[in-house]
Amino acid sequence: MKTASLASQEQISQQDYESIRDFLQQSCGIVLGDNKHYLVSSRLGRLLKEQGLSSLSELAARLREDSDPQLQAWVIDAMTTNETSWFRDGYPFEILRNIILPELVAEGARNPRIWSAACATGQEPYSISIVIEEFLRNRAGVLPGIQVLGTDISPRVLEDAQSARFDEMAMRRGISGPLRERYFEKEGEIWRLKQIVRDRVVFKQVNLLQSFSHLGKFDCIFCRNVLIYFSSSVKKDILERLTESLRPRGYLFLGGSESLANYSDRFETVRGPSGHVYRLKEC
Ligand SMILES: C[S@@+](CC[C@H](N)C(=O)[O-])C[C@H]1O[C@@H](n2cnc3c(N)ncnc32)[C@H](O)[C@@H]1O
Repeated sequence: MKTASLASQEQISQQDYESIRDFLQQSCGIVLGDNKHYLVSSRLGRLLKEQGLSSLSELAARLREDSDPQLQAWVIDAMTTNETSWFRDGYPFEILRNIILPELVAEGARNPRIWSAACATGQEPYSISIVIEEFLRNRAGVLPGIQVLGTDISPRVLEDAQSARFDEMAMRRGISGPLRERYFEKEGEIWRLKQIVRDRVVFKQVNLLQSFSHLGKFDCIFCRNVLIYFSSSVKKDILERLTESLRPRGYLFLGGSESLANYSDRFETVRGPSGHVYRLKEC
């Protein structure tokens, strides 16, 4: 314990900082900037002991010299921000319920697919699935085979997502009492999501920097609160490939502080009462 707290205060040299910064940028696109030394030493320093490493310097050297996938995954896990909540920002889920799902029904869509890219611990894909479940309650037989895919670079958050078990703290963030009663079962201190909501959600590890064309096409993509961490060129590349992953007239949600301005003219904006979504224009 003492070692961990000492390690967490360890200063990081400029050379080691640059090694870790370069590794993160190349492996997952995250741009740290020039002055995040404290963030790196506190997040990585805290975990050195677990990995049997004596210092940040040793860690940086291992990243430079070995390509140990376990160590790399551990650094990525420690350095990514996995902040999320149920029905985050509200409006994307209203637009899904009031615009996108009714349109898919009107088109007689079969096996529609929605992708939550960078889904963290699963609240986003599960919120989508709850919206779908609520929508289907009075409309038996529509949207057969509808599926939600949740992906993230971090195996640790995907494991949490897959377990579909949430503590009180997570349950205090964004889910209403009635939905909690309808779709969760309490097991001691933990809330477990019911199978009916879990069944249409599948999780996979996907690094947005690498090809995701094998995932196929989607009617709607949520890629929220992750592009902010990337450089403009990485953002542009990911947005181009997300565009290719959409079906004609497919929808794209970005985070509240993210926008397509300067990145793509292939979309039109569809406005809901409290926010907007992008829709792929017809060619
Ligand atoms: C702040 S969370 C956003 C979660 C959710 N989309 C939301 O808006 O609530 C960002 C997530 O992006 C993931 N991430 C970071 N870099 C990534 C990459 N290159 N590929 C895929 N996921 C990545 C992180 O692991 C983290 O879980």
